[in-house]
Amino acid sequence: MAYMKIAVLISGRGSNLQALMAAVEAPDFPAEISLVLSNRADAGGLEIAAAAGIDTAVIKSRDYETREEFDSAVDDRVRDSGAQMICLAGFMWLLGESFVNGWRDRLLNIHPSLLPAFKGLNVQAQAVEMGVQFSGCTVHFVRPELDDGPIIIQAVVPVLATDDTASLSSRILEQEHIIYPMAVRWIAEGRIRVSGEKVMVDGGISNQQVLVSPMIEQPG
Ligand code: GRF
Repeated sequence: MAYMKIAVLISGRGSNLQALMAAVEAPDFPAEISLVLSNRADAGGLEIAAAAGIDTAVIKSRDYETREEFDSAVDDRVRDSGAQMICLAGFMWLLGESFVNGWRDRLLNIHPSLLPAFKGLNVQAQAVEMGVQFSGCTVHFVRPELDDGPIIIQAVVPVLATDDTASLSSRILEQEHIIYPMAVRWIAEGRIRVSGEKVMVDGGISNQQVLVSPMIEQPG
């Protein structure tokens, strides 16, 4: 089987990285991780990757004079690893237009909301504050605007009246760990097409169900 090499870019604990590492272990998973790169030396995910024998790299923005030079150092390192696709997994750096366009439709991000709602940071707290009934997570192709781009897959998570930021974040995170590997698998299997700014999944997904929350039982 032809394996697609992927680079995972992180800045922190790396739980999505771990989910991807676990997924690629499956014998029929058509991708492997060729590099884990962080812009922070203290990112927990680096140790996890290194312990599993995956190549790691740290590239810090403060070592470069301009954003473009930093982006291009990341680009060089990723290309050196042979990666054909990049997964952003909690990478806290806004990559510039030239980098993003150079990886068009091969650069993915995971975001803990149902985009296009709640872009940016601390979105789980915003969802709790706003009183939305549903939130969730989104895997999308990256475009130069923050948290923008064709949506590959989303998971819906009900927001409970008892939720605080931590409880909602942790339920969303569980779903992140499921949908990110699914998106990567579909791409590596060649099942994803971007038409206009919409993603088409070959083989289709049949889901006729509508999710409504709260479910209130009708009397008698
Ligand atoms: C996740 O919530 C992801 O959606 C967001 O950053 C967080 C990264 O968490 N982009 P982890 O480092 O993968 O645990």
